Amino acid sequence: MINTYLQATEDALTKNCNLYFYDDSQVNKAARYSLLNVGKRVRAMLIYLTADMCGMDWKKYKDFACAIEMVHCYSLIHDDLPCMDNDDMRRGKLSCHKAFPENIALLAGDSLIGCSVETIVNSQEFNEVEKVKAIKYLCSAIGPKGMIYGQELDLKFETEKANKEQLDMIHRNKTGQLISLCGKLGSIGATITEEQENAINIFFANTGLVFQIVDDILDVEGNQEELGKPIGSDAENGKSTFISLYGLEESKKQVEELTKKANDLLYSQFGDRAKQIIEYTKKLSERKK
Ligand code: IPE
Ligand code: IPE
Ligand code: MG
Ligand code: MG
Ligand code: MG
Repeated sequence: MINTYLQATEDALTKNCNLYFYDDSQVNKAARYSLLNVGKRVRAMLIYLTADMCGMDWKKYKDFACAIEMVHCYSLIHDDLPCMDNDDMRRGKLSCHKAFPENIALLAGDSLIGCSVETIVNSQEFNEVEKVKAIKYLCSAIGPKGMIYGQELDLKFETEKANKEQLDMIHRNKTGQLISLCGKLGSIGATITEEQENAINIFFANTGLVFQIVDDILDVEGNQEELGKPIGSDAENGKSTFISLYGLEESKKQVEELTKKANDLLYSQFGDRAKQIIEYTKKLSERKK
């Protein structure tokens, strides 16, 4: 099923690119370069898997999946800029600002935010109330109390060493908020109980945190070729990471514990319907790229 989801995501992204990035401007070329045929599409997968778990037809959620992959892509373009993490490789090729001039990359990132919202607005699959809900969730997840806050903290704690609570705040915001958004978008329109909604929220909060811990681990012991981005970037920038605070072994232990806790909770609410998403997030926690 994952392969079907992946193909559907690529097709939908290409279709949306043809709509929004249609001419030959440099900015549009740069946006297409960074967005198409690359990336694990984790966030899109999590939306489809959530919808499926909630008894919905996953195909209905294609525009939400595109929208989240667009904002995620914008966050990566900006994250790599020299004034941020200053990384030259992304997704196995030159970072956007290395393949294009820096100012064009900046604008390409910006343009993806607007297109993401437009993609939701133009969706034929949801009614107006549902679309406003989706946009509200999206804006809050990527805004100054969400991903941007996490990125700000991430920079702040380059020169200062973050403690446990501060590190938790960084990760839950810079990465967790967008992962949590998958649970929110993937259950729009579904009839679920309050307990199930709570379980989804907790599951995604933990999954988001785990996702960034594994990213921190891979920055230390990953393989650059396989990962498609530089390793050792966090240490070079003096970042506060799970490894710098807890070390590798303890970080891996936390990944296992948090994954199990999150999966057990989801299973207790959705039973076998949660099996697919549990299997997927378990694989994510063991990923090498
Ligand atoms: C990388 O995200 C940045 C983080 C938030 C950890 P992904 O690991 O999902 O990157 P792609 O989309 O597969 O390139
Ligand atoms: C990225 O965190 C978080 C966002 C892009 C919002 P990282 O800086 O650790 O991601 P990578 O390692 O560059 O992909
Ligand atoms: Mg970063
Ligand atoms: Mg980075
Ligand atoms: Mg990283």
